[in-house]
Amino acid sequence: MSAIRTVGVVGAGLMGAGIAQAAASAGFATILQDVAEAALTRARAGMEKSTAKFVEKGQMTAEARAAALGRVTTTTGLGTMARADLVIEAITEDAAVKSDLYQELNALCPPTTTFASNTSSLSIGMLAAGSGRPDRFVGLHFFNPVPLMPLVEVIRGVATSQETYDTALEFVRQLGKETVEARDVPGFVVNLLLVPYLLDAVRALERGVASTADIDRGMVLGCGHPMGPLMLLDFVGLDTVVRIGEIMFDGYREERYAPPALLQRMVAAGSLGRKSGRGFYDYTVTPPVAVSPA
Ligand code: NAI
Repeated sequence: MSAIRTVGVVGAGLMGAGIAQAAASAGFATILQDVAEAALTRARAGMEKSTAKFVEKGQMTAEARAAALGRVTTTTGLGTMARADLVIEAITEDAAVKSDLYQELNALCPPTTTFASNTSSLSIGMLAAGSGRPDRFVGLHFFNPVPLMPLVEVIRGVATSQETYDTALEFVRQLGKETVEARDVPGFVVNLLLVPYLLDAVRALERGVASTADIDRGMVLGCGHPMGPLMLLDFVGLDTVVRIGEIMFDGYREERYAPPALLQRMVAAGSLGRKSGRGFYDYTVTPPVAVSPA
């Protein structure tokens, strides 16, 4: 097992910011990189706000918060990833974009650096094959919001070495999170079951079965879910779910994974959920209100 001291996180969106916060809070020196300076500014603000809430609730001391925030370095340059023992990629869900990144990283990082992808639906084996180090490549699938969600799915590609896999399991344990070992199939365990459910909720809305608010209330009050499927879609990001659905549809050729037209229209119109201020709900008002589907 290799000892991880410095963690690199590439992509400072919803997931990357959360992963960086979890790593820094667990004591790892953390380098957070993004091509967009604005994403880094948002990520820094998000980490400050989230850790402040932990302090407020008495789950973290003010000193531990300051130390954690102090362990995060942000940068738009990829060069510093050469210092990381483990690089976790959390960029846009696009195979070609991810492959280009891995080739760049492979040229930059020493051969001992382990690569991990937070991909929701792409094949770990395929990403690993193009990374130049398939044996040192593993899937680490975190859940949103990362600082609060206890689960990480750990996925082995065909060539992932046992040492790499053990290193990944130990790293997740050090983050204080639980692991599920999943096979390298589109969706792994959780999205395999969750994505068709979310897409069915959009289809129910499209067909006029019930209103946005009532579909969500139905699943909250009828099934004891903490939030309804349409609000959960807003949380995950509608563009991300469309991409995941398309990749799963490609993988299984089953209609239930195909993103419904309403979801595609919303993404085209820039309604991406919470991150854009509007999705199935309008987040510019408190509490958020359901909006009529376009
Ligand atoms: P996001 O859209 O919030 O963030 C992606 C970030 O990557 C953006 O800030 C973008 O500027 C940056 N980026 C794009 N290309 C880059 C490059 N070449 N180098 C550096 N930065 C680059 O996306 P989100 O939701 O954080 O998703 C990231 C990954 O995590 C995806 O693979 C997604 O499937 C996966 N994921 C998403 C979950 C979710 O609930 N949203 C849950 C678990 C995994």
